[in-house]
Parts: sequence; structure tokens; C-alpha cells
Amino acid sequence: MSGSYYIKQLKQVLGDDEGKHVGQDIKNIVILTGAGVSAESGIDTFRSAGGLWEQHKVEDVATPEAFARDPDLVLRFYDMRRERIQQVEPNAAHYALARLDAAWSGNLLLVTQNVDDLHERAGTQRLLHMHGEHLNAWCNACDARHRWRETLMDRPACPACGISGQLRPDIVWFGEMPYRMDEIYHALNQADLFVSIGTSGAVYPAAGLVREARQKGIKTLELNLEPSHGTSWFEESRHGPATLMVPAWVTEILGG
Ligand code: OAD
Repeated sequence: MSGSYYIKQLKQVLGDDEGKHVGQDIKNIVILTGAGVSAESGIDTFRSAGGLWEQHKVEDVATPEAFARDPDLVLRFYDMRRERIQQVEPNAAHYALARLDAAWSGNLLLVTQNVDDLHERAGTQRLLHMHGEHLNAWCNACDARHRWRETLMDRPACPACGISGQLRPDIVWFGEMPYRMDEIYHALNQADLFVSIGTSGAVYPAAGLVREARQKGIKTLELNLEPSHGTSWFEESRHGPATLMVPAWVTEILGG
């Protein structure tokens, strides 16, 4: 894309015929990522053909009711997922976002729906996991959370309270409240730009953030392999693989 989309937009909004580097005008950024950003690292997405929710029923493995009914099935599913994410590496999209986080002097919050740790392994620091983390275990007995790389299937004892069989994956299941929504809305209230990357826009409240952004007059950009469910809400959508689209956009917004 020649020049910068943002500079053109800002010229229209600000009447700035000289044009300015985008970094001088966009100060605060909220980025939402989903499974698409980790797909090229080898982690299955949820809703694509052959994706996780075709292989497993949501109601069998991703609800509190499923865990109460058949904890072995649920724990085995998450043990496999936890093992898998430890076998893969961050990709160029994760690294580009980490580069942006390090270079961006304004506010930036990367909100991820992903429960892998690839953003932090790539180096992003201003990061929030709204759907929990595979590498955390949460004790139903004492409420403590612990970094956890091993299996839960064998019902280990909680390191804090010592009670066995009470640790669950620290994953937000369907019917549960995503984490840290107050912080997400606070960041969005101050944002000049909202960017959604690699998410189908099928799961709320994450899918509703673009509408919130539009209502507040915040610029919106989608980077996804294909149009998402919410694509019409975005001022601009760019389609292609995250490992190409994200580094190109980061280079653009950082001004080269
Ligand atoms: P989905 O599987 O619903 O959507 C992934 C999106 O990424 C799709 O729109 C794909 O087209 C796109 N995509 C696939 N490969 C890509 C690539 N290489 N580059 C760019 N885009 C690509 O995953 P999410 O939207 O993240 O929740 O799903 C949201 C939530 O639903 C998840 O956090 C999870 C799931 O149920 C919980 O587990 C609570």
C-alpha cells in the first residue's frame, strides 16, 4: 500500500495537507488477537474446517457443566493442548507485535483471546489474556493460580493448599466471564486505533469490541485470513496470512 492509509485518513479528519507521520497522531492502540495469529505456528484454530470445534464438541470439553460431568475427558483435552503449545514457536506475526509493543511510546494493550503463551514468548509485555492461559492451573479449593506445565489428569495437589484433585485449567469456559474486561474497556476508551487480528468475531464480548470502538469514533482495522463475521464493522479489512499481514502493518505504523 503506497504511503499510509492512516496518513490519508488523518489528512481527511484533521485537514492536514502536509501529512504527518502516523505515530504523531495515533497515540493509543488496542489490539485484539485470536487463534489465526497462532495458526502458522501449528496451533489449530477453533472454527476453520477441521478446527478444534469440529474435532470436539464445545459442550463436551469447554463448559463448567462438561467438567462436572466428565472431568477426565476435559482434563485430557486440556493436557493435550497444554503439551502442544509447548512444542511450537512464535511466528513472524507474534514477533512483529512484540516489536510494536517495544517501539510504541503511546499506550498499547494487546488483548488476546488465545490461551497459548506465544505472544509473551515473542516478547510482548503489554498483554492481557482475556480467555485465560493453558500454562496456569486454578485451584477450586483455595482459588490460587499456579504456573503449570505438566498434566492435570493425574489430579496433582495444589501447591498452595495441598488438596488433591481440585486444580482445573485456568481457561474461561463458555458460560464463564472473560477476564479483565474493565481494563479492556478502559484501554479502548482511550484508544485512537483498534486492530483485530486473526479472529472470526464469533465469540462475545471480544467480538463486540469493534462496535464499541466505532461508537467511540476510534479507527478500526481488521487483519484476517478472510472476512470475519464482524468484517463490515471495520473501516478497513486486509485479508491474508498473519505472518505476512502483521509485519507489513507494523512496519507501516512505525513508519518503516
Ligand atoms: P476462530 O477459530 O473462531 O477464528 C480464527 C480466525 O483466524 C478465522 O477467521 C480464520 O479465518 C483466521 N485465520 C486462520 N488462519 C489464519 C492465518 N494464518 N492468518 C490470519 N488469520 C487466520 O478463533 P477465535 O476467533 O480466536 O474461546 O475464537 C475465539 C474464541 O472461541 C477462542 O478464544 C476460544 C474459542 O471458543 C475459548 O476457548 C473461551
